[in-house]
Amino acid sequence: MATFILFLHIVGASFWIGSMLFLILVLHPFLRELLKEKKIFYRILRRYNFIGTTLILPFMLITGLLNLHYGVGIKEAFSGKGDYSRTFLLKFFLYWLVFALSVFHDYLVGPKGLEEERFRKVARFVGIANLLLSLTIAFLGVKLRFGG
Ligand code: HEM
Repeated sequence: MATFILFLHIVGASFWIGSMLFLILVLHPFLRELLKEKKIFYRILRRYNFIGTTLILPFMLITGLLNLHYGVGIKEAFSGKGDYSRTFLLKFFLYWLVFALSVFHDYLVGPKGLEEERFRKVARFVGIANLLLSLTIAFLGVKLRFGG
């Protein structure tokens, strides 16, 4: 069971980070062109936001807590004692930061950015910050795997 949960956690992480890399590195150069096709682009982004922020992020929390349950134990992880717990608490804090930034990006500044340049710049900055924070979270996950 523990292996299967970790597998699901990794699949979730691959989607979350993979889709962000795809958006920023592959799709972004065509953003201006795509904005001309607003209707379809809106629908793609809305679906992406729903799957990413609304489904995958809570899924990461659930599978993450289950990883702990089958691993070191939830109490131990939140105790703040030892390398494992300290790395975990940092990861947990960054997770909530990413969560807040994602909601801000996907439901507030992102939709406005499709209409106005100044919001587009903020959305871009928040999007890139979110990718870097998510990569840090994944790195901390790997660190936990090696004992913290
Ligand atoms: C964006 C969110 C997240 C990403 C991208 C992510 C990514 C990862 C990755 C890449 C690993 C390494 C797996 C391995 O090397 O085997 C991992 C492990 C882990 N993650 Fe996450 N994670 C996220 C959120 C969370 C959350 C919210 C929790 C807990 C509430 C959590 C708890 C864990 C635990 C306990 C492990 C396994 C550590 C061990 O093997 O002892 N993760 N995560």
